[in-house]
Amino acid sequence: MNLIEKLNWRYATKKFDQDKKITDDQIDILAESLRLCASSFGLQPWKFIIVENKELKEQLVPASYGQGQVAEASHHVVFCAPKNFGAKEVRDYIEDIAETRGSKIEDLEGFEKVMLSFLERKNEAEVFEWAKNQVYIAMGSFLVCCAELGIDACPMEGIIPAEYDRILDLEKEGLTTVVACPIGYRASDDKYASTQKVRFPLDKVVEKR
Ligand SMILES: Cc1cc2nc3c(=O)[nH]c(=O)nc-3n(C[C@H](O)[C@H](O)[C@H](O)COP(=O)(O)O)c2cc1C
Repeated sequence: MNLIEKLNWRYATKKFDQDKKITDDQIDILAESLRLCASSFGLQPWKFIIVENKELKEQLVPASYGQGQVAEASHHVVFCAPKNFGAKEVRDYIEDIAETRGSKIEDLEGFEKVMLSFLERKNEAEVFEWAKNQVYIAMGSFLVCCAELGIDACPMEGIIPAEYDRILDLEKEGLTTVVACPIGYRASDDKYASTQKVRFPLDKVVEKR
């Protein structure tokens, strides 16, 4: 399948085959794809929790307005953002760049100032909104990676973040849930697999100038 065929193949899976598990190798590839995702300044304000544990997935169903895919799927990926993101995280990133690229911290201080002033111009809610936007970029990229690997997925905003946070004990890590995505293999009787995609015509959404 070429890319367009894969994007037509994928759909928001409503029913997963409970007997089909994603291999550890494939999960590792998806995890690495998440790590490699682009973010604003490269600041990576996120964490991804891949839930395989059956009981935990079952507990998350009511926190997903009863959407059964969460428990049926092979794995359930929870996309989280930090509640507070600021100078400490920026400094950690600067140190990471220095170590990774063998550069001096002093040479990176200009870049650090740019990032700090970008964040300082925002209030707490705006910084969180910015972090959430980054998490959504990861989710978009993740859906394409799943399609590339022939893995089914259902992006999910229909969740109760506070309930997810409680069940996954995210408070102590300073994280909160943004969005989630069960992944696995479609059930043979999921009627949505063969439902025609509804999309605006190309010339309505893309303009070439
Ligand atoms: C951010 C986001 C949140 C979504 N939330 C849900 C959800 O909670 N439950 C669900 O079944 N589908 C959810 N969807 C799937 C969309 O309804 C679906 O992507 C859209 O109708 C297009 O269909 P397709 O993805 O099957 O091509 C969500 C999609 C996105 C991108």
